Amino acid sequence: MTNKQTIVSGIQPTGRLHLGNYLGALKNFIKLQNDYQCYFFIADYHSITENYNPKDKPQQILNLAADMLAAGLNPKKCALFVQSDIPAHTELAWIFNCLTPISYLERMTQYKDKAARQKENINVGLFDYPVLQAADILIYHATAVPVGQDQDQHVELTRQVARFFNNRFGQTFTEPKSLHTETPKIMSLADPDKKMSKSLGDNHCLYIDDEPKIIAAKLAKAPTDSGDAKSAGAKNLLTLSKIFSSEKLYNQYLAAAKSGGLRYGDLKKNLAADIAAHFTDYRQAKQTLLKNPDQIRKVLAAGARVASAVAKKTMAEVREKIGISY
Ligand code: ADP
Ligand code: TRP
Repeated sequence: MTNKQTIVSGIQPTGRLHLGNYLGALKNFIKLQNDYQCYFFIADYHSITENYNPKDKPQQILNLAADMLAAGLNPKKCALFVQSDIPAHTELAWIFNCLTPISYLERMTQYKDKAARQKENINVGLFDYPVLQAADILIYHATAVPVGQDQDQHVELTRQVARFFNNRFGQTFTEPKSLHTETPKIMSLADPDKKMSKSLGDNHCLYIDDEPKIIAAKLAKAPTDSGDAKSAGAKNLLTLSKIFSSEKLYNQYLAAAKSGGLRYGDLKKNLAADIAAHFTDYRQAKQTLLKNPDQIRKVLAAGARVASAVAKKTMAEVREKIGISY
């Protein structure tokens, strides 16, 4: 065991990764793996709380693993695994269920949004989702959780669950904090008052594996303003150019916006080229990885072995403390 701090985060295998997922979460995973004990996982049990087709799920899992590896996660530096390979997550979630008041879950905004979106399928899992997330995090004694802003309420609930457990059964879990990047909330391209999200649809998202032509076409359609960069859409584009374009170009845009004469056509064209270039290596690496799914499975199995050892130890301690051991 090292005495490095522990980081945990998960992403659901529900579709392609967009710039929000990358800039809010995955980019940070790649940075953090160098300095922390990291557990990154594919949250497949979370993903079945929403409508899905079982035929698609295996490929979604492999795809997300390929995305994470191709973008720069190094399995020698972090444990990368699939949530359902570690049954202790769901086991601990059950114990946390018995400590968490229903009223706390009723406040969760993501639950309310998703329930409104899938009225015909408001299942118990969708409601209980944050408790499973608390188990995912606490089982590894994480001190920090790299996520986008939309997950802060779930991390706060995780802290609360840790307190419930510690107060009742004695100090066991650390209270983790959210870790944000400088861009914790990337906005939709088509509707920049909303967060970029898969659930809004393809025209709202720039996927990191979009081909250069598609990136250019999607940016070309993004709403802007008359040139002073005061609108949400223009601000979002400037945020992206700050990250992907050269400092010189970005400063030129800022100066142009100050005088009210920012030409979005130029900005969009340059930004599209810079984003496409940024993800060239990733796109190639992903294609190579997907040609050899057994190699991906091996990486995930090795990650699961590392995670499982820690999870089992936590569960033994928890069972003992709650009186389920004889
Ligand atoms: P989506 O909302 O598209 O379904 P997920 O819920 O799978 O995305 O999110 C995976 C990770 O990406 C989480 O850490 C989440 O906070 C982060 N994230 C999602 N959307 C954005 C966004 N628009 N800006 C910044 N981070 C985001
Ligand atoms: N709820 C997160 C999301 O929708 C995914 C997730 C599941 C997660 N378990 C986690 C994130 C544990 C961080 C830590 O994006």
